[in-house]
Amino acid sequence: MFERLQALWRERQSRSIISLFTEDPSRATRLSASCGPLHFDFSKTQLDKEILQALFELTTSRAVEERRMAMMSGEPINDTEGRAVLHTALRSNSADPLLVDGADVRPEVRATRERTARFAEAIRAGEYQTQGGAITDVVNIGIGGSDLGPAMATQALAPYHDGPRCHFVSNVDGAHLTDTLKGLNATTTLVIIASKTFTTIETMTNARSARAWLAERVADPSAHLVALSSATDRTQAFGIPAERVFGFADWVGGRYSMWGPIGLSLMIAIGPERFRQLLAGAERLDQHFCEAPLEQNLPVLLALVGLWHQQGCGYSSRAVLPYDQRLARLPAYLQQLEMESNGKRVSREGAPLPYPSGPIVWGEAGTNGQHAFYQLIHQGTSVIPCEFLVAAKGHEEALSHHHTLLVANCLAQSEALMVGRSLEEARSLMEARGFEGAELHRQALHRVFPGNRPSTTLIYPQLTPEVLGMIIALYEHRVFVEGVILGINSFDQWGVELGKALAQSLTPILEGVASAEDKDSSTRSLISYVQRQS
Ligand code: F6P
Repeated sequence: MFERLQALWRERQSRSIISLFTEDPSRATRLSASCGPLHFDFSKTQLDKEILQALFELTTSRAVEERRMAMMSGEPINDTEGRAVLHTALRSNSADPLLVDGADVRPEVRATRERTARFAEAIRAGEYQTQGGAITDVVNIGIGGSDLGPAMATQALAPYHDGPRCHFVSNVDGAHLTDTLKGLNATTTLVIIASKTFTTIETMTNARSARAWLAERVADPSAHLVALSSATDRTQAFGIPAERVFGFADWVGGRYSMWGPIGLSLMIAIGPERFRQLLAGAERLDQHFCEAPLEQNLPVLLALVGLWHQQGCGYSSRAVLPYDQRLARLPAYLQQLEMESNGKRVSREGAPLPYPSGPIVWGEAGTNGQHAFYQLIHQGTSVIPCEFLVAAKGHEEALSHHHTLLVANCLAQSEALMVGRSLEEARSLMEARGFEGAELHRQALHRVFPGNRPSTTLIYPQLTPEVLGMIIALYEHRVFVEGVILGINSFDQWGVELGKALAQSLTPILEGVASAEDKDSSTRSLISYVQRQS
């Protein structure tokens, strides 16, 4: 299906990106698009008119617009689980009925949103009192989509925090819970157990240990517990009263769930009004995704650039590089969003994919990454398309010179990746440093940058709640478009099941109450190593 892209790439792979700017002075304008405050520049790539045409043809042949309509109208497009995919409803203000199985989902969404906001406000205002008085600390216990979204966004929006402190515990490693609870006053701590299913082993193990921690310190531990879950029978059995259980429907996938109750910790940190701005940003991007022509449609463009790099050029990973310390968790968030969604090996029909599925996504906040893995990005043998994100303005006015440096570094990296440094330039540099002859040549060879390495830049005025909402919704829809073109179901995650099942069978073996005889010799020897230490 991607043969045309591959043929176009073969014809163009030695062409220099910089020459495209010389040939077309309006390239940066032509190969960029905006949605309100977001501006996406994809001109520092090999894309040209013909490649774009081939990519847009894929959107038609793979029926992207029809699938978009199917998603937005509540059809069960997650067809291995028989579920609609309607996280967009969590941020919508529309009054138009949205039917799932014949029932309008809007009233329930609105009611939960209002109830969650009232609860967050009561916590923030100190009206919700426990034995120790007002809540000072909130601990969100969850994993995957019940952790990454709120944790990433809470860090991203730190300048807007004016509520209790928020902490996040995800790992079943007891170190995570221990280190988080250390120093907290149980009498003023609220523990939020965030789990759609209320069965996830890591979350339930942490939740039970946190409940025990509370029980040793407060008279009424249940007053300190909140559940974000739809499994009301399980939340009740855990001892959480119904008034502190906030649920959501099965048409909200875990990794798409930060817009509803799963965002409670963030809402407590920044307040319901700013949380509404986050939702408004996401809704604005949803409208753009549904209405903007495909040529100007940001999620579509991001998806097409991604597909070009993976399916056309054969680059198997992409780096997400936010030049924003507060977006340090964005790469981790996107790893789940993109890799759990599009890391599939069969098509929607179950046939093996004859091409690679979604790429490996990784990254780190700039400028830190520059002093770590950028060496490989610039001079390694693998080409890694880079996706830069940067705000024109920071929040620290007294330190605005830091921000200037941050932006300069971000722009410098995309320029360096594209322009590179030739052997001739490297030789002159080394000559100026006094080298000559064979040693001059040897030294120069190490200082050559091949350049011609593609990158994109997403730039915005400042990282506000609205802008963050737009950025996250942009990536969500990008994943959707890539998934549709790849012909896969982006909304299930069967690949996480096997490890979970095996971990369950290994636990009693490690505890010495079950036999390891069915295990392979490597696993058996690792088990006996652990048992010798205990
Ligand atoms: O293990 C994968 C997963 O199912 C994710 O998709 C999900 O976000 C996470 O686990 C947590 O699930 P839950 O919210 O049900 O605890």
